[in-house]
Amino acid sequence: MADLLVTGGAGFIGANFVHYWHAAHPSSRIVVLDALTYAGNRANLAALDADPRFTFVHGDIGTEGLAADLLRRHALDTVVHFAAESHVDRSILGPDAFLQTNIMGTHELLKAARQVWLEEQRVPRDRARFHHVSTDEVYGSLSFDDPPFVETTPYAPNSPYSASKAASDHLVRAYHHTYGLPVTTTNCSNNYGPWHFPEKLIPLLIVNVLLGRAIPVYGDGRNVRDWLYVEDHARAIDAVLARGRVGEVYNVGGRAEAANIDIVRTVCALVDDRLRADAALAGRFPASPASAGAASTTLITYVADRPGHDRRYAIAPDKLTAETGWTPRETLSTGLARTVDWFLANEPWWRGVMDGSYRAWIDAQYGATGAAR
Ligand code: NAD
Ligand code: TYD
Repeated sequence: MADLLVTGGAGFIGANFVHYWHAAHPSSRIVVLDALTYAGNRANLAALDADPRFTFVHGDIGTEGLAADLLRRHALDTVVHFAAESHVDRSILGPDAFLQTNIMGTHELLKAARQVWLEEQRVPRDRARFHHVSTDEVYGSLSFDDPPFVETTPYAPNSPYSASKAASDHLVRAYHHTYGLPVTTTNCSNNYGPWHFPEKLIPLLIVNVLLGRAIPVYGDGRNVRDWLYVEDHARAIDAVLARGRVGEVYNVGGRAEAANIDIVRTVCALVDDRLRADAALAGRFPASPASAGAASTTLITYVADRPGHDRRYAIAPDKLTAETGWTPRETLSTGLARTVDWFLANEPWWRGVMDGSYRAWIDAQYGATGAAR
């Protein structure tokens, strides 16, 4: 069984993946390396602290020698690389951190894997795997009548975020081609689900509806994203590690295209239903329109468009399905309902993230380094 270095495991998708993997592969060891940026939340992994198979390391993927040391010290044969700066709007305001982490950080990890696995030969080549988690945004933007992205779609990244991810994809490919590093890459569509940081559309929307705050819809609201429930992404990475071919790229998506305004209306309706059906819930969120008998869609506020806003993403996961048998379990409507219910059940989590108080909790729990042991 694989023993994993998971980078970015305290973030949204990384934390979901770690919990999924821990349950699905009981004998596997997991070392999480995470810098705990604003998007990394140590509390997301607290449930695993008592398990000796789990280790948390507070550190930057770009620190020279750190990842190599972890691969050696813990005898790890697999890297699952999530760590990144991931928010397009932040990349427009300040691209530097994106280039540093997403490009230089990825390169540091590739160097570490090459050094420990290929040069020092600490792991047989057929057991080692560097799995790179990337995005469909590297392919650029589609028109409404274009076919979905496939693995051979030419790269055309449009934001500093997607450009930095594209660069990291190319480095991963080059380390396979040049040095023979056993790599796989997945390019996934937009995820949503538990532990999603409320700066991205779906969690921001849920939280704003509950708090009775304006829902900012960029431009005309007709931009289309292809949504995937995060646990289905975790299962796809598992499928690629188990049955994917080394050196290959796999697109991951839920065949769940939706215009932003339709996502907004669906989530508003879900929250309204929950609050109308449960007086106690309505009492917890008195500022939410549903608590006063109104519709949450009254909060919709059209705002200035994002510069360079990609019009449409859509992804064809046919290769992944054909080669590994993976298919998503959640539809957009079941996944959104699960997500709304998770946010209703985990109010302290999102309140802590929004007011920053979770950082004090981390310090009290783990000390300033965030390291559990
Ligand atoms: P996120 O922003 O929620 O989490 C990123 C994590 O990486 C955080 O825990 C953060 O602390 C950590 N991190 C950032 N810089 C680091 C550094 N220098 N060293 C160590 N750790 C660092 O991101 P996410 O949404 O969970 O995305 C995870 C990965 O999946 C990213 O590579 C992203 O490009 C990719 N992806 C995301 C989506 C999506 O919809 N969110 C879709 C496809 C692909
Ligand atoms: P986002 O969740 O930031 O993901 P990405 O930009 O990586 O696709 O945004 C999803 C879509 O929602 C995107 O078209 C931008 C739009 N959006 C809004 O309309 N309002 C918002 O407040 C946010 C955060 C996003």
